[in-house]
Amino acid sequence: MREASASTPPLRDEPGGPTQAVGRGQGKLILAGEHAVVYGHPALVVGLERGARAVARRADDGLDRMVLLEQRSGEPLFEVVDVPTPQEPMERAWRAMLDALGARGQGVRVEVSLGLPPGAGLGSSAALAAACCRALASLLGRDEATITRAVHASEGVFHGSPSGIDQAAALGGGLLRFERGDTPTLTALHAPPLHLVIGQPAPGASTARMVASVAALIQRQPALGPHLCQTVGALVEAAQTALCAGDHAALGDLLNINHGLLVSLGVSTPTLDTACHIAREAGALGAKLTGAGGGGCVFALTTAETTPHILDAWDAHGWPCFAVKTP
Ligand code: MEV
Repeated sequence: MREASASTPPLRDEPGGPTQAVGRGQGKLILAGEHAVVYGHPALVVGLERGARAVARRADDGLDRMVLLEQRSGEPLFEVVDVPTPQEPMERAWRAMLDALGARGQGVRVEVSLGLPPGAGLGSSAALAAACCRALASLLGRDEATITRAVHASEGVFHGSPSGIDQAAALGGGLLRFERGDTPTLTALHAPPLHLVIGQPAPGASTARMVASVAALIQRQPALGPHLCQTVGALVEAAQTALCAGDHAALGDLLNINHGLLVSLGVSTPTLDTACHIAREAGALGAKLTGAGGGGCVFALTTAETTPHILDAWDAHGWPCFAVKTP
């Protein structure tokens, strides 16, 4: 199940004529701070080279249509056409993008391919929306603020009340500290490169459902729930210091503690816990789930030497996995 190469080739913008335009969006890996970030605490996130690439064109049939293509073959997997009363989440997300971009009824066709597992905690929905909105904005002449609103509207369909961290990574990339607020604060961080292994031991769960389950826990445990989130916030401050200082042993400890806090918030599963234990036993400095949890991805902080051991260990369980090195 190990993927053949460490990463897909970089997505490249291609020259677009007056009737077509290309857009891209990056996936993301939350290093620390998911869920607590919804409550105003900081989080650390890195944009992934993998993501989504979209091409927007004027449509011959005058309909507004999004077609998801299989990444390698380019074969259509499914399509969404704007309909008067959209029901399915993808239909509602497409409508939300079109409305925010002032594109509805203009007769546009967007073909998009995704280089990430969908719904697994790596920001696939934000990457897809960012690619589609960038391509459409470029075709129709919309500005960056309009793109941001359109991606946010699409994310609202899938995530309920998203903090905005996925969209920040999808549109901006790099290594970021993110803080939600009336206006989200993004700080670019400069740190020595990290060796990471990302694995998917289980299918993903709905982000909206996982965010709602944390909200319900905090409501049931008002004396403890907010403290757990505050502790995650304090952990993120320490993780940022360790990250920027290149102290990967300390960072690994903090990732392990962050996973434990996510267990306490009720968003881990036995399979995700097992994957983290296996990675640590195989030599990882730390391991945690990433994203909303309930399934989906975990990652391990490794070194150039230990990376193959973690890949082998997860591979032996049949879990898709790949290595990345942050820039
Ligand atoms: C999802 O990628 C991250 C969460 O913190 C939700 C959010 O920030 O919107 C779980």
